[in-house]
Amino acid sequence: MNLPKPRPRHSALLLGLTLFLVGGLLPPTPLAADTPPRLLVTLRAPNVAARTALAASGYDVWSASLESMTLAVTPTDLRRLQSQGYQVEQVESLPRAFPPNYAGYHDYAETVAELKGLNAQYCDLTHLQSIGKSLEGRDLWALRITDHPDQDEPGEKAILIYAGTHAREHLTVEQALYVAHDLLDNYGHEGEATNLVNQRDIWILPNLNPDGSEYDITAGFPAYWRKNRRNNGNGTWGVDLNRNFGYKWGDNNGSSGLPGSDTYRGPQPFSEPENQALRDFVMAHPAIDVTISLHTYGELVLYPYGYTYDDLPPDMKAADLAIFQALAGAMAARNGYTAQQASALYITSGGHDDWFYGMLGIYAMTMEMYSKSPNPGFYPPDTAIAPQTKRNRTALRYAISMADDPAKSTGQGQDMTPPAVAILSPGDGADVPAATPLAVTVAVSDTVGVTTVEYLVDDQPVAVSTTPDFAAEITLTTGQHVLRARAFDSANWQTLSDPVTVQAGVQTATPTPTASPTPSLTPTPTATPIPQRLYLPLLR
Ligand code: ARG
Ligand code: ZN
Repeated sequence: MNLPKPRPRHSALLLGLTLFLVGGLLPPTPLAADTPPRLLVTLRAPNVAARTALAASGYDVWSASLESMTLAVTPTDLRRLQSQGYQVEQVESLPRAFPPNYAGYHDYAETVAELKGLNAQYCDLTHLQSIGKSLEGRDLWALRITDHPDQDEPGEKAILIYAGTHAREHLTVEQALYVAHDLLDNYGHEGEATNLVNQRDIWILPNLNPDGSEYDITAGFPAYWRKNRRNNGNGTWGVDLNRNFGYKWGDNNGSSGLPGSDTYRGPQPFSEPENQALRDFVMAHPAIDVTISLHTYGELVLYPYGYTYDDLPPDMKAADLAIFQALAGAMAARNGYTAQQASALYITSGGHDDWFYGMLGIYAMTMEMYSKSPNPGFYPPDTAIAPQTKRNRTALRYAISMADDPAKSTGQGQDMTPPAVAILSPGDGADVPAATPLAVTVAVSDTVGVTTVEYLVDDQPVAVSTTPDFAAEITLTTGQHVLRARAFDSANWQTLSDPVTVQAGVQTATPTPTASPTPSLTPTPTATPIPQRLYLPLLR
Protein backbone atom coordinates (compact mmCIF):
# COMPACT_ATOMS: atom_id res chain seq x y z
CA MET A 1 0.00 0.00 0.00
CA ASN A 2 1.38 3.37 -0.90
CA LEU A 3 0.62 5.72 1.88
CA PRO A 4 0.81 9.46 1.66
CA LYS A 5 3.46 10.97 3.84
CA PRO A 6 2.14 12.00 7.22
CA ARG A 7 1.40 15.67 7.46
CA PRO A 8 4.05 17.27 9.66
CA ARG A 9 2.57 17.60 13.11
CA HIS A 10 4.51 20.75 13.88
CA SER A 11 2.91 22.89 11.14
CA ALA A 12 0.68 24.68 13.63
CA LEU A 13 3.67 25.37 15.82
CA LEU A 14 5.69 26.64 12.86
CA LEU A 15 2.81 28.85 11.83
CA GLY A 16 2.50 30.18 15.36
CA LEU A 17 6.21 30.76 15.56
CA THR A 18 6.22 32.50 12.20
CA LEU A 19 3.35 34.76 13.17
CA PHE A 20 5.07 35.49 16.47
CA LEU A 21 8.34 36.39 14.76
CA VAL A 22 6.68 38.35 12.00
CA GLY A 23 4.18 40.12 14.19
CA GLY A 24 6.61 40.56 16.99
CA LEU A 25 3.85 41.23 19.48
CA LEU A 26 1.66 38.20 18.99
CA PRO A 27 1.83 35.57 21.73
CA PRO A 28 2.76 32.09 20.56
CA THR A 29 -0.30 30.27 19.26
CA PRO A 30 -0.99 27.28 21.47
CA LEU A 31 -0.51 24.00 19.69
CA ALA A 32 -4.00 22.67 19.19
CA ALA A 33 -4.70 19.27 17.71
CA ASP A 34 -7.12 19.15 14.74
CA THR A 35 -9.14 16.47 16.50
CA PRO A 36 -9.39 15.72 20.18
CA PRO A 37 -6.52 13.49 21.20
CA ARG A 38 -7.73 9.94 21.53
CA LEU A 39 -6.81 7.60 24.27
CA LEU A 40 -6.87 3.85 24.29
CA VAL A 41 -8.31 2.82 27.60
CA THR A 42 -8.61 -0.67 28.99
CA LEU A 43 -11.30 -0.93 31.65
CA ARG A 44 -11.90 -3.78 34.01
CA ALA A 45 -15.23 -5.32 32.94
CA PRO A 46 -15.48 -8.88 34.16
CA ASN A 47 -19.20 -9.17 33.60
CA VAL A 48 -20.91 -9.31 30.27
CA ALA A 49 -23.71 -6.91 31.22
CA ALA A 50 -21.09 -4.23 31.95
CA ARG A 51 -19.37 -4.92 28.62
CA THR A 52 -22.67 -4.75 26.79
CA ALA A 53 -23.50 -1.45 28.50
CA LEU A 54 -20.15 -0.03 27.42
CA ALA A 55 -20.58 -1.27 23.87
CA ALA A 56 -24.15 0.06 23.79
CA SER A 57 -23.19 3.55 24.91
CA GLY A 58 -21.55 4.12 21.56
CA TYR A 59 -17.93 4.02 22.61
CA ASP A 60 -15.45 2.88 20.00
CA VAL A 61 -14.84 -0.65 21.22
CA TRP A 62 -11.53 -2.04 20.01
CA SER A 63 -11.60 -5.35 21.75
CA ALA A 64 -12.99 -7.22 24.68
CA SER A 65 -12.03 -10.18 26.76
CA LEU A 66 -13.94 -11.90 29.51
CA GLU A 67 -12.09 -9.65 31.98
CA SER A 68 -11.86 -6.27 30.30
CA MET A 69 -12.78 -4.03 27.42
CA THR A 70 -10.57 -1.69 25.43
CA LEU A 71 -12.10 1.54 24.13
CA ALA A 72 -10.80 4.52 22.19
CA VAL A 73 -12.06 7.60 24.00
CA THR A 74 -11.46 11.31 24.50
CA PRO A 75 -10.08 12.53 27.81
CA THR A 76 -13.60 13.76 28.63
CA ASP A 77 -14.98 10.26 28.04
CA LEU A 78 -12.27 8.84 30.24
CA ARG A 79 -13.18 11.18 33.10
CA ARG A 80 -16.84 10.25 32.67
CA LEU A 81 -16.05 6.52 32.74
CA GLN A 82 -13.91 6.92 35.84
CA SER A 83 -16.66 8.88 37.58
CA GLN A 84 -19.04 6.05 36.69
CA GLY A 85 -16.77 3.79 38.70
CA TYR A 86 -14.97 1.90 35.94
CA GLN A 87 -11.57 0.72 37.03
CA VAL A 88 -8.96 1.78 34.50
CA GLU A 89 -6.32 -0.88 33.86
CA GLN A 90 -4.33 0.86 31.18
CA VAL A 91 -4.29 4.14 29.24
CA GLU A 92 -2.25 4.65 26.11
CA SER A 93 -2.29 7.52 23.67
CA LEU A 94 -3.09 6.50 20.14
CA PRO A 95 -0.33 6.94 17.61
CA ARG A 96 -1.25 9.25 14.76
CA ALA A 97 0.92 7.70 12.10
CA PHE A 98 1.09 4.27 10.52
CA PRO A 99 4.11 2.29 11.53
CA PRO A 100 6.84 3.12 9.02
CA ASN A 101 6.66 -0.21 7.27
CA TYR A 102 3.09 -0.56 6.11
CA ALA A 103 3.66 -0.86 2.38
CA GLY A 104 3.00 -4.60 2.29
CA TYR A 105 -0.72 -4.07 2.79
CA HIS A 106 -3.03 -3.93 -0.21
CA ASP A 107 -5.12 -0.83 -0.63
CA TYR A 108 -8.26 -1.08 -2.77
CA ALA A 109 -6.56 -0.61 -6.14
CA GLU A 110 -3.87 -3.13 -5.22
CA THR A 111 -6.47 -5.61 -4.00
CA VAL A 112 -8.38 -5.36 -7.28
CA ALA A 113 -5.14 -5.73 -9.25
CA GLU A 114 -4.25 -8.82 -7.23
CA LEU A 115 -7.65 -10.39 -7.88
CA LYS A 116 -7.46 -9.62 -11.59
CA GLY A 117 -3.97 -11.09 -11.69
CA LEU A 118 -5.08 -14.32 -10.01
CA ASN A 119 -8.07 -14.52 -12.35
CA ALA A 120 -5.78 -14.14 -15.38
CA GLN A 121 -3.17 -16.58 -14.09
CA TYR A 122 -5.69 -19.23 -13.06
CA CYS A 123 -8.40 -18.69 -15.63
CA ASP A 124 -9.54 -22.34 -15.51
CA LEU A 125 -9.97 -22.26 -11.74
CA THR A 126 -11.37 -18.81 -11.06
CA HIS A 127 -14.18 -16.49 -11.92
CA LEU A 128 -14.08 -12.84 -10.85
CA GLN A 129 -17.24 -10.85 -10.43
CA SER A 130 -18.48 -7.71 -8.76
CA ILE A 131 -21.34 -8.47 -6.39
CA GLY A 132 -22.41 -4.82 -6.32
CA LYS A 133 -21.08 -1.39 -5.54
CA SER A 134 -20.17 0.48 -2.40
CA LEU A 135 -21.90 3.72 -1.56
CA GLU A 136 -19.15 5.68 -3.32
CA GLY A 137 -19.36 3.37 -6.33
CA ARG A 138 -16.45 0.99 -5.83
CA ASP A 139 -17.00 -2.54 -7.06
CA LEU A 140 -17.23 -5.24 -4.43
CA TRP A 141 -15.15 -7.98 -6.05
CA ALA A 142 -15.55 -11.65 -5.30
CA LEU A 143 -13.22 -14.34 -6.62
CA ARG A 144 -14.76 -17.74 -7.12
CA ILE A 145 -12.30 -20.62 -6.87
CA THR A 146 -13.40 -24.04 -8.09
CA ASP A 147 -12.70 -26.49 -10.92
CA HIS A 148 -15.65 -25.32 -13.04
CA PRO A 149 -15.72 -21.66 -12.03
CA ASP A 150 -18.33 -20.51 -14.51
CA GLN A 151 -21.10 -22.78 -13.32
CA ASP A 152 -22.91 -24.05 -10.24
CA GLU A 153 -22.12 -27.73 -9.93
CA PRO A 154 -25.04 -29.69 -8.57
CA GLY A 155 -24.27 -31.08 -5.14
CA GLU A 156 -21.12 -29.01 -4.68
CA LYS A 157 -21.37 -26.94 -1.54
CA ALA A 158 -19.97 -23.45 -1.27
CA ILE A 159 -18.25 -21.32 1.33
CA LEU A 160 -17.85 -17.55 1.43
CA ILE A 161 -14.82 -16.05 3.12
CA TYR A 162 -15.05 -12.27 3.31
CA ALA A 163 -13.11 -9.46 4.87
CA GLY A 164 -12.79 -5.73 5.22
CA THR A 165 -16.23 -5.20 6.80
CA HIS A 166 -14.56 -2.80 9.21
CA ALA A 167 -12.37 -0.30 7.44
CA ARG A 168 -9.35 -0.27 9.75
CA GLU A 169 -9.09 -4.06 9.90
CA HIS A 170 -6.64 -4.15 6.99
CA LEU A 171 -5.03 -7.44 8.01
CA THR A 172 -8.28 -9.22 7.10
CA VAL A 173 -7.95 -8.19 3.44
CA GLU A 174 -4.52 -9.81 3.46
CA GLN A 175 -5.98 -12.98 4.98
CA ALA A 176 -8.59 -13.24 2.23
CA LEU A 177 -5.91 -12.80 -0.45
CA TYR A 178 -3.76 -15.37 1.33
CA VAL A 179 -6.52 -18.00 1.14
CA ALA A 180 -6.91 -17.41 -2.59
CA HIS A 181 -3.16 -17.84 -3.09
CA ASP A 182 -2.98 -20.85 -0.80
CA LEU A 183 -5.58 -22.74 -2.83
CA LEU A 184 -4.53 -21.64 -6.29
CA ASP A 185 -0.74 -21.69 -5.97
CA ASN A 186 -0.85 -25.19 -4.48
CA TYR A 187 -3.42 -26.59 -6.91
CA GLY A 188 -2.00 -29.56 -8.76
CA HIS A 189 1.08 -29.59 -6.53
CA GLU A 190 -0.44 -30.61 -3.25
CA GLY A 191 -3.34 -32.97 -2.58
CA GLU A 192 -5.54 -31.06 -0.18
CA ALA A 193 -5.55 -27.76 -2.09
CA THR A 194 -6.36 -29.69 -5.26
CA ASN A 195 -9.11 -31.67 -3.61
CA LEU A 196 -10.71 -28.64 -1.96
CA VAL A 197 -10.72 -26.63 -5.17
CA ASN A 198 -12.21 -29.56 -7.10
CA GLN A 199 -14.77 -30.56 -4.48
CA ARG A 200 -15.90 -27.17 -3.15
CA ASP A 201 -17.11 -23.87 -4.53
CA ILE A 202 -15.04 -21.23 -2.71
CA TRP A 203 -15.88 -17.53 -2.81
CA ILE A 204 -13.39 -14.96 -1.55
CA LEU A 205 -14.50 -11.35 -1.08
CA PRO A 206 -11.49 -9.46 0.26
CA ASN A 207 -13.05 -6.05 0.86
CA LEU A 208 -16.71 -5.45 1.68
CA ASN A 209 -16.06 -1.84 2.73
CA PRO A 210 -13.61 -0.26 0.28
CA ASP A 211 -14.89 3.28 0.88
CA GLY A 212 -14.08 2.91 4.55
CA SER A 213 -10.65 1.36 4.07
CA GLU A 214 -9.61 3.98 1.50
CA TYR A 215 -10.76 6.67 3.88
CA ASP A 216 -8.82 5.08 6.72
CA ILE A 217 -5.65 5.04 4.64
CA THR A 218 -5.89 8.53 3.20
CA ALA A 219 -7.66 10.60 5.81
CA GLY A 220 -5.79 10.31 9.02
CA PHE A 221 -2.60 8.26 8.87
CA PRO A 222 -4.43 6.21 10.13
CA ALA A 223 -7.93 7.43 10.78
CA TYR A 224 -9.04 4.49 12.95
CA TRP A 225 -12.13 4.37 10.72
CA ARG A 226 -14.54 1.46 11.22
CA LYS A 227 -17.82 2.17 9.42
CA ASN A 228 -18.71 2.76 5.80
CA ARG A 229 -18.80 6.32 4.46
CA ARG A 230 -22.54 7.10 4.54
CA ASN A 231 -23.14 10.81 5.01
CA ASN A 232 -25.58 10.77 7.90
CA GLY A 233 -26.54 14.36 7.17
CA ASN A 234 -25.95 15.73 10.64
CA GLY A 235 -22.23 16.18 10.31
CA THR A 236 -21.51 12.54 11.09
CA TRP A 237 -20.46 9.79 8.74
CA GLY A 238 -20.79 6.08 8.51
CA VAL A 239 -22.95 3.11 9.37
CA ASP A 240 -21.48 0.05 11.07
CA LEU A 241 -22.03 -2.64 8.44
CA ASN A 242 -21.95 -5.30 11.16
CA ARG A 243 -24.96 -3.74 12.93
CA ASN A 244 -27.07 -3.05 9.85
CA PHE A 245 -28.29 -6.53 8.88
CA GLY A 246 -31.94 -7.31 9.40
CA TYR A 247 -32.00 -9.96 12.14
CA LYS A 248 -33.04 -8.51 15.52
CA TRP A 249 -31.84 -5.18 14.14
CA GLY A 250 -31.61 -2.61 16.92
CA ASP A 251 -32.52 -5.12 19.65
CA ASN A 252 -31.06 -5.60 23.11
CA ASN A 253 -28.72 -2.59 23.17
CA GLY A 254 -26.61 -4.41 20.59
CA SER A 255 -26.05 -1.36 18.41
CA SER A 256 -26.38 2.41 18.56
CA GLY A 257 -29.09 4.65 17.19
CA LEU A 258 -26.76 7.64 17.28
CA PRO A 259 -25.35 8.40 13.83
CA GLY A 260 -22.04 9.52 15.27
CA SER A 261 -21.51 6.26 17.11
CA ASP A 262 -19.03 3.73 15.86
CA THR A 263 -21.75 1.09 16.11
CA TYR A 264 -24.48 3.12 14.40
CA ARG A 265 -27.01 0.68 13.00
CA GLY A 266 -28.23 2.97 10.19
CA PRO A 267 -31.74 4.35 9.59
CA GLN A 268 -33.21 0.94 8.80
CA PRO A 269 -32.08 -2.65 8.31
CA PHE A 270 -30.07 -3.15 5.12
CA SER A 271 -29.96 0.59 4.44
CA GLU A 272 -26.37 0.23 3.21
CA PRO A 273 -25.53 -0.83 -0.34
CA GLU A 274 -22.57 -2.96 0.76
CA ASN A 275 -24.90 -5.00 2.95
CA GLN A 276 -27.60 -5.23 0.29
CA ALA A 277 -24.98 -6.63 -2.07
CA LEU A 278 -23.73 -9.14 0.48
CA ARG A 279 -27.26 -10.27 1.41
CA ASP A 280 -28.37 -10.60 -2.22
CA PHE A 281 -25.21 -12.44 -3.22
CA VAL A 282 -25.56 -15.01 -0.46
CA MET A 283 -29.28 -15.49 -1.17
CA ALA A 284 -28.50 -15.99 -4.85
CA HIS A 285 -26.06 -18.79 -3.99
CA PRO A 286 -27.96 -21.27 -1.85
CA ALA A 287 -25.03 -23.69 -2.07
CA ILE A 288 -23.24 -21.45 0.46
CA ASP A 289 -23.62 -23.09 3.83
CA VAL A 290 -20.58 -21.77 5.66
CA THR A 291 -19.47 -18.14 5.85
CA ILE A 292 -16.35 -16.85 7.55
CA SER A 293 -16.31 -13.15 8.31
CA LEU A 294 -12.78 -11.91 8.97
CA HIS A 295 -12.17 -9.18 11.52
CA THR A 296 -9.35 -7.95 13.71
CA TYR A 297 -8.55 -8.24 16.50
CA GLY A 298 -8.73 -10.58 19.50
CA GLU A 299 -7.66 -14.05 18.22
CA LEU A 300 -11.14 -15.48 18.56
CA VAL A 301 -13.48 -17.73 16.64
CA LEU A 302 -17.05 -16.55 17.28
CA TYR A 303 -20.32 -18.25 16.51
CA PRO A 304 -23.95 -17.06 16.79
CA TYR A 305 -25.84 -15.63 18.34
CA GLY A 306 -24.57 -12.17 19.09
CA TYR A 307 -27.97 -10.70 19.94
CA THR A 308 -28.56 -12.82 23.05
CA TYR A 309 -26.56 -14.31 25.89
CA ASP A 310 -28.61 -17.47 25.57
CA ASP A 311 -26.51 -20.09 23.82
CA LEU A 312 -29.56 -22.05 22.76
CA PRO A 313 -32.44 -19.64 22.15
CA PRO A 314 -35.59 -20.88 20.37
CA ASP A 315 -34.18 -19.77 17.02
CA MET A 316 -31.21 -22.14 17.24
CA LYS A 317 -31.31 -25.91 16.93
CA ALA A 318 -29.40 -27.88 19.53
CA ALA A 319 -27.66 -29.87 16.78
CA ASP A 320 -26.53 -26.59 15.20
CA LEU A 321 -25.11 -25.31 18.47
CA ALA A 322 -23.10 -28.51 18.72
CA ILE A 323 -21.88 -28.03 15.15
CA PHE A 324 -20.94 -24.40 15.77
CA GLN A 325 -19.03 -25.37 18.88
CA ALA A 326 -17.27 -28.20 17.07
CA LEU A 327 -16.39 -26.08 14.02
CA ALA A 328 -15.20 -23.11 16.06
CA GLY A 329 -13.33 -25.37 18.47
CA ALA A 330 -11.56 -27.24 15.68
CA MET A 331 -10.58 -24.01 13.97
CA ALA A 332 -9.31 -22.54 17.24
CA ALA A 333 -7.29 -25.70 17.87
CA ARG A 334 -5.54 -25.08 14.56
CA ASN A 335 -4.63 -21.41 14.99
CA GLY A 336 -4.39 -21.02 18.73
CA TYR A 337 -7.41 -18.71 18.91
CA THR A 338 -10.22 -18.98 21.47
CA ALA A 339 -13.63 -20.28 20.40
CA GLN A 340 -16.73 -18.82 22.02
CA GLN A 341 -20.23 -17.58 21.42
CA ALA A 342 -20.14 -14.03 20.00
CA SER A 343 -22.22 -12.53 22.81
CA ALA A 344 -19.80 -13.80 25.43
CA LEU A 345 -17.84 -10.64 24.62
CA TYR A 346 -20.76 -8.25 24.38
CA ILE A 347 -24.17 -8.21 22.77
CA THR A 348 -24.35 -7.15 19.14
CA SER A 349 -27.50 -7.03 17.05
CA GLY A 350 -27.84 -6.58 13.31
CA GLY A 351 -24.62 -8.53 12.78
CA HIS A 352 -24.03 -10.49 9.60
CA ASP A 353 -23.67 -13.87 11.28
CA ASP A 354 -26.96 -13.71 13.16
CA TRP A 355 -28.89 -13.03 9.96
CA PHE A 356 -27.02 -15.65 7.93
CA TYR A 357 -27.76 -18.29 10.52
CA GLY A 358 -31.17 -17.08 11.72
CA MET A 359 -32.63 -16.53 8.27
CA LEU A 360 -30.72 -18.95 6.05
CA GLY A 361 -29.38 -21.60 8.44
CA ILE A 362 -25.82 -20.89 7.33
CA TYR A 363 -22.97 -21.85 9.64
CA ALA A 364 -21.80 -18.26 9.88
CA MET A 365 -18.72 -17.56 11.95
CA THR A 366 -16.42 -14.64 12.64
CA MET A 367 -12.70 -14.84 13.11
CA GLU A 368 -11.11 -12.03 15.06
CA MET A 369 -7.51 -12.25 13.87
CA TYR A 370 -4.21 -11.15 15.39
CA SER A 371 -3.53 -9.50 17.78
CA LYS A 372 -4.81 -10.47 21.18
CA SER A 373 -4.13 -7.12 22.82
CA PRO A 374 -4.42 -3.50 21.60
CA ASN A 375 -0.76 -3.49 20.71
CA PRO A 376 -0.49 -3.65 17.72
CA GLY A 377 -4.28 -3.95 17.45
CA PHE A 378 -5.61 -2.70 14.13
CA TYR A 379 -2.27 -1.62 12.74
CA PRO A 380 0.34 -4.33 12.89
CA PRO A 381 3.37 -3.55 10.73
CA ASP A 382 3.44 -5.38 7.43
CA THR A 383 5.97 -7.88 8.78
CA ALA A 384 3.01 -9.43 10.64
CA ILE A 385 1.12 -10.18 7.43
CA ALA A 386 2.99 -13.33 6.41
CA PRO A 387 3.08 -15.10 9.78
CA GLN A 388 -0.41 -14.08 10.87
CA THR A 389 -2.14 -15.05 7.62
CA LYS A 390 -0.21 -18.32 7.35
CA ARG A 391 -1.21 -19.06 10.91
CA ASN A 392 -4.83 -19.45 9.75
CA ARG A 393 -4.07 -21.69 6.81
CA THR A 394 -5.18 -24.96 8.33
CA ALA A 395 -8.09 -23.43 10.25
CA LEU A 396 -9.54 -21.97 7.05
CA ARG A 397 -8.85 -25.14 5.07
CA TYR A 398 -10.73 -26.99 7.78
CA ALA A 399 -13.71 -24.64 7.37
CA ILE A 400 -13.62 -25.20 3.61
CA SER A 401 -13.35 -28.95 4.04
CA MET A 402 -16.40 -28.99 6.38
CA ALA A 403 -18.57 -26.88 4.09
CA ASP A 404 -20.01 -29.87 2.22
CA ASP A 405 -21.55 -31.23 5.39
CA PRO A 406 -20.77 -29.30 8.60
CA ALA A 407 -22.27 -32.13 10.69
CA LYS A 408 -19.01 -33.96 9.96
CA SER A 409 -17.51 -31.74 12.67
CA THR A 410 -19.55 -33.53 15.34
CA GLY A 411 -19.17 -36.99 13.84
CA GLN A 412 -22.73 -36.90 12.47
CA GLY A 413 -21.90 -36.37 8.80
CA GLN A 414 -23.21 -38.47 5.94
CA ASP A 415 -19.70 -39.68 5.18
CA MET A 416 -17.43 -40.23 8.14
CA THR A 417 -15.21 -42.90 6.57
CA PRO A 418 -11.73 -42.07 5.31
CA PRO A 419 -10.45 -43.81 2.21
CA ALA A 420 -7.98 -46.67 2.17
CA VAL A 421 -4.86 -46.49 0.03
CA ALA A 422 -1.81 -48.64 -0.64
CA ILE A 423 1.02 -48.29 -3.13
CA LEU A 424 0.94 -51.25 -5.54
CA SER A 425 3.98 -50.45 -7.58
CA PRO A 426 6.87 -50.13 -7.07
CA GLY A 427 7.01 -52.73 -4.36
CA ASP A 428 8.73 -52.22 -1.05
CA GLY A 429 12.48 -52.71 -1.36
CA ALA A 430 12.42 -52.42 -5.16
CA ASP A 431 15.34 -51.21 -7.22
CA VAL A 432 14.07 -48.50 -9.54
CA PRO A 433 15.71 -46.20 -12.08
CA ALA A 434 16.81 -42.72 -11.10
CA ALA A 435 16.44 -39.54 -13.14
CA THR A 436 13.75 -41.00 -15.35
CA PRO A 437 9.95 -41.01 -14.91
CA LEU A 438 8.78 -43.88 -12.79
CA ALA A 439 5.16 -45.02 -12.85
CA VAL A 440 3.59 -45.32 -9.43
CA THR A 441 0.27 -47.02 -8.96
CA VAL A 442 -2.06 -47.38 -6.02
CA ALA A 443 -5.01 -49.40 -4.86
CA VAL A 444 -7.69 -47.21 -3.34
CA SER A 445 -11.08 -47.76 -1.84
CA ASP A 446 -13.67 -45.60 -0.18
CA THR A 447 -17.33 -45.72 0.74
CA VAL A 448 -18.18 -42.77 -1.50
CA GLY A 449 -15.17 -42.67 -3.80
CA VAL A 450 -11.63 -41.42 -3.82
CA THR A 451 -11.24 -38.05 -5.56
CA THR A 452 -7.53 -37.20 -5.31
CA VAL A 453 -4.26 -39.01 -4.62
CA GLU A 454 -1.14 -37.14 -3.59
CA TYR A 455 2.28 -38.74 -3.89
CA LEU A 456 5.04 -37.99 -1.43
CA VAL A 457 8.74 -38.69 -1.73
CA ASP A 458 10.55 -38.45 1.58
CA ASP A 459 7.45 -36.71 2.99
CA GLN A 460 7.34 -33.99 0.31
CA PRO A 461 4.38 -33.86 -2.09
CA VAL A 462 5.68 -34.39 -5.62
CA ALA A 463 2.64 -35.31 -7.68
CA VAL A 464 -1.13 -35.18 -7.55
CA SER A 465 -3.47 -37.38 -9.53
CA THR A 466 -7.18 -36.99 -10.09
CA THR A 467 -7.40 -39.34 -13.07
CA PRO A 468 -9.58 -42.45 -12.72
CA ASP A 469 -6.58 -44.71 -12.10
CA PHE A 470 -4.88 -42.18 -9.77
CA ALA A 471 -1.51 -43.28 -11.17
CA ALA A 472 1.35 -40.82 -11.40
CA GLU A 473 4.88 -40.55 -12.67
CA ILE A 474 7.61 -39.40 -10.37
CA THR A 475 11.30 -38.86 -10.93
CA LEU A 476 13.76 -39.83 -8.22
CA THR A 477 17.31 -38.85 -7.54
CA THR A 478 19.85 -41.61 -6.97
CA GLY A 479 19.63 -43.15 -3.55
CA GLN A 480 17.11 -44.52 -1.10
CA HIS A 481 13.69 -42.90 -0.93
CA VAL A 482 10.48 -43.41 0.97
CA LEU A 483 7.31 -43.21 -1.13
CA ARG A 484 3.85 -42.65 0.27
CA ALA A 485 0.46 -41.90 -1.22
CA ARG A 486 -2.33 -39.92 0.42
CA ALA A 487 -5.89 -40.48 -0.73
CA PHE A 488 -8.72 -37.95 -0.34
CA ASP A 489 -12.45 -38.41 -0.75
CA SER A 490 -15.03 -35.75 -1.52
CA ALA A 491 -15.59 -35.13 2.19
CA ASN A 492 -11.85 -34.36 2.27
CA TRP A 493 -11.19 -37.25 4.63
CA GLN A 494 -7.67 -38.38 3.97
CA THR A 495 -5.43 -41.35 4.60
CA LEU A 496 -1.68 -41.74 4.23
CA SER A 497 -0.49 -45.09 2.88
CA ASP A 498 2.15 -47.25 4.45
CA PRO A 499 5.64 -46.34 3.24
CA VAL A 500 7.37 -48.05 0.36
CA THR A 501 11.14 -47.80 0.43
CA VAL A 502 12.97 -47.94 -2.90
CA GLN A 503 16.56 -47.74 -4.11
CA ALA A 504 16.81 -45.46 -7.10
CA GLY A 505 19.65 -45.80 -9.60
CA VAL A 506 21.10 -48.97 -8.09
CA GLN A 507 22.93 -51.33 -10.51
CA THR A 508 20.11 -53.63 -11.54
CA ALA A 509 22.66 -56.14 -12.93
CA THR A 510 23.63 -57.23 -9.42
CA PRO A 511 20.46 -57.63 -7.47
CA THR A 512 21.19 -59.62 -4.37
CA PRO A 513 18.82 -60.49 -1.57
CA THR A 514 21.03 -58.56 0.85
CA ALA A 515 20.55 -55.42 -1.26
CA SER A 516 16.97 -55.28 -0.06
CA PRO A 517 17.21 -52.35 2.35
CA THR A 518 14.51 -53.14 4.85
CA PRO A 519 12.45 -56.11 5.78
CA SER A 520 8.99 -55.65 4.39
CA LEU A 521 6.78 -54.08 7.02
CA THR A 522 4.11 -52.98 4.60
CA PRO A 523 1.11 -55.16 4.11
CA THR A 524 0.70 -56.51 0.64
CA PRO A 525 -1.94 -54.69 -1.35
CA THR A 526 -4.44 -57.48 -0.82
CA ALA A 527 -4.03 -57.02 2.92
CA THR A 528 -5.36 -53.45 2.79
CA PRO A 529 -9.00 -52.93 3.70
CA ILE A 530 -10.92 -54.53 0.86
CA PRO A 531 -10.15 -52.40 -2.19
CA GLN A 532 -13.29 -52.13 -4.28
CA ARG A 533 -11.28 -51.43 -7.36
CA LEU A 534 -7.77 -52.54 -8.07
CA TYR A 535 -5.86 -50.57 -10.65
CA LEU A 536 -3.16 -52.40 -12.47
CA PRO A 537 0.14 -50.73 -13.24
CA LEU A 538 -0.12 -48.53 -16.28
CA LEU A 539 2.85 -47.22 -18.22
CA ARG A 540 2.07 -43.67 -19.05
N1 ARG B 1 -15.97 -7.23 16.68
C1 ARG B 1 -17.03 -7.43 15.71
C2 ARG B 1 -18.06 -6.36 15.87
O1 ARG B 1 -18.09 -5.70 16.88
C3 ARG B 1 -17.62 -8.78 15.84
C4 ARG B 1 -18.57 -8.92 16.97
C5 ARG B 1 -19.03 -10.32 17.16
N2 ARG B 1 -20.24 -10.36 17.91
C6 ARG B 1 -20.34 -10.11 19.24
N3 ARG B 1 -21.50 -10.18 19.79
N4 ARG B 1 -19.31 -9.79 19.97
O2 ARG B 1 -18.83 -6.16 14.98
ZN1 ZN C 1 -14.48 -5.78 13.02
